[in-house]
Amino acid sequence: MQYFTGETLHPVHSFKLRCGMNLITSCCVAMLVHTVVHASAPALQIALSGTVTDGNDPVENAIISLVNNPLFIDTTDADGAFSISNSTGGIDVTRRNSRRDCTVRLSGNRMKIPIAMTNEKVSLYNAGGRCIRRYAPEKDRPGSGIMDLSGLSSGVYLVTFSAGRLSLVRKLMVTATEMYLTGTDAVPSTGIRQRGWSQAAVDQLKITGAGFNDTLVDISSYRMDDLLIVLTPIDSTATETSLGRKYANYFPVGAAIDGDSYRDAHAAIWKEHFNAAVCENEMKWESLQPTEGNFQFDQANAMVNAAVTNGMLVRGHVLVWYNQTPDWVYQGSKEQVLQRIRTHVTRVMQEFKGRVYAWDVVNEAVIGYDAAGQDVGEDLGPLVRWGYRNSRWQQVAGEDHIFEAFRAARAADPDAKLFYNDYWNYLDGKREFIISFVKRLQEQNLIDGVGLQCHLNISTAQEKMTNQTVYQTVENLEKEIQEYAALGLDVHITELDISIYTRDYASSDQSRWYTGYDLNEEYQDKMAARYREFFEMFRRNADKLQNVTFWGIADDNTWLSELSSGRPDHPLLFDKHLQPKKAFDAVMDF
Ligand code: G3I
Repeated sequence: MQYFTGETLHPVHSFKLRCGMNLITSCCVAMLVHTVVHASAPALQIALSGTVTDGNDPVENAIISLVNNPLFIDTTDADGAFSISNSTGGIDVTRRNSRRDCTVRLSGNRMKIPIAMTNEKVSLYNAGGRCIRRYAPEKDRPGSGIMDLSGLSSGVYLVTFSAGRLSLVRKLMVTATEMYLTGTDAVPSTGIRQRGWSQAAVDQLKITGAGFNDTLVDISSYRMDDLLIVLTPIDSTATETSLGRKYANYFPVGAAIDGDSYRDAHAAIWKEHFNAAVCENEMKWESLQPTEGNFQFDQANAMVNAAVTNGMLVRGHVLVWYNQTPDWVYQGSKEQVLQRIRTHVTRVMQEFKGRVYAWDVVNEAVIGYDAAGQDVGEDLGPLVRWGYRNSRWQQVAGEDHIFEAFRAARAADPDAKLFYNDYWNYLDGKREFIISFVKRLQEQNLIDGVGLQCHLNISTAQEKMTNQTVYQTVENLEKEIQEYAALGLDVHITELDISIYTRDYASSDQSRWYTGYDLNEEYQDKMAARYREFFEMFRRNADKLQNVTFWGIADDNTWLSELSSGRPDHPLLFDKHLQPKKAFDAVMDF
């Protein structure tokens, strides 16, 4: 016997019960041995109601439907409330293009087959695939259209409505207290063949809400109210492969670009994995105003426009720094120098207004001093105090060079975020000195945040225990972030990279260089662990961090391999082949 499932006609293999008996024989046998068991299931109305929330607040516009009966759906209102009900108590079994009323209804323990269908054969199969009831018009009082459903135990049954070669399948759901038909044609006819077909839940509610995972809720009856359903937000980053999108709910993730990387093979990584940018050198004074009044913006504009075109936030680096600044700038009187700062800051910020959202206005103006007033560098052993770097800026204009730079920047672009940027941002003494002038800048509304460069190392100092990297710990950097944030400052990680070397020995000691082109497993693992612990901390403090920018894209192009010593380094998330390292996986693993 061939029969078809669903409204469209899909011939399935001719039907054979597992026991090998054909359909008719088995039904007759079933009818002969049929014992009468009194059922108590009245026909069922659908009456479901409840509320959908996200665990805290109601979810509006969530769509509630019944998996086995999609004819009945509702959408939650502003209070997250829903109500699903039906009035017909029946189920439609109309064939395509038919105009006849083919609504089959339940009444007490009987299934009422509409007159229009009384010439059809109706068969009831249990979950084991056995035909246990049959309505055949020529036998059962022709025209009566009644199938007796008494004595059915709880469970899920299949009902086939057959007219000649055509057959439709529906489900009959029976519980201890109710019985009802389901309206889906998705019921697989193969269900009849699968012996021991599991007793599915009586039904399920399916809830779909924008931004939430689809949710299925088993229900034991169609008469339930005050249902409370909690949806879980879609974790859009669960399978995210892009670094920037993975951190979309934490902070923008940027990378420093140069005149080549923004458009060469590095660009694909930059655009896929980063949503912020900074020019490594192309927006420094020597690049933008190499000689007085001679502003050169083409290269920087090309890079900034590439970033903006790709929807990236752009940090401006750097307006006033003691390095990469032409000598002519420092010539003449204090006022002449200050005027040059005002002119440079104003012209540059006006050029990039609306495209650069945050500026390193002043960079690295603080150093540690020994008793002789010399810069102690990274050996903090002789350190006696922190103070302004004795730069040419400082020599000519004192701290006014800082305040004038910020004053000019605020005037040039009031919408831009203004930062003081520095390194070794895990040393209490250095922070305390920085705060001593940052607070005064805040009082004049001249500053918005601090940039923590975070040129880190694969581990803290191991030998010279007076080296600054002894303090380069997650705890100390976390404390730094929190202390600046507590002042109401934005905090950006501005130049992140992790050298594979500890800083406590001279980079000129070639016997200690790692010379492999590719990092070995040991270094990969150590770097991955280091990046992991810092990014766990960054995520923990995402409410205090508004940007995390790497100082480069891949290891084949890093300033750390361009130092005068020529020592090769591997500080970033992508290797010299532009492939993601274990460190990348570690940063993505959460
Ligand atoms: O532009 C010249 C080029 O004309 C010349 O042919 C070439 C050969 O020497 O040098 C080029 O200038 C180099 C410049 O980068 C541009 O590539 C300088 O020599 C070189 O010293 C300079 O290094 C930059 C360094 O700042 C300068 O201190 C690094 O690329 C850059 O990554 C680094 O970035 C700084 C941040 O701005 C501030 N925080 C520290 C960070 C690392 O030092």
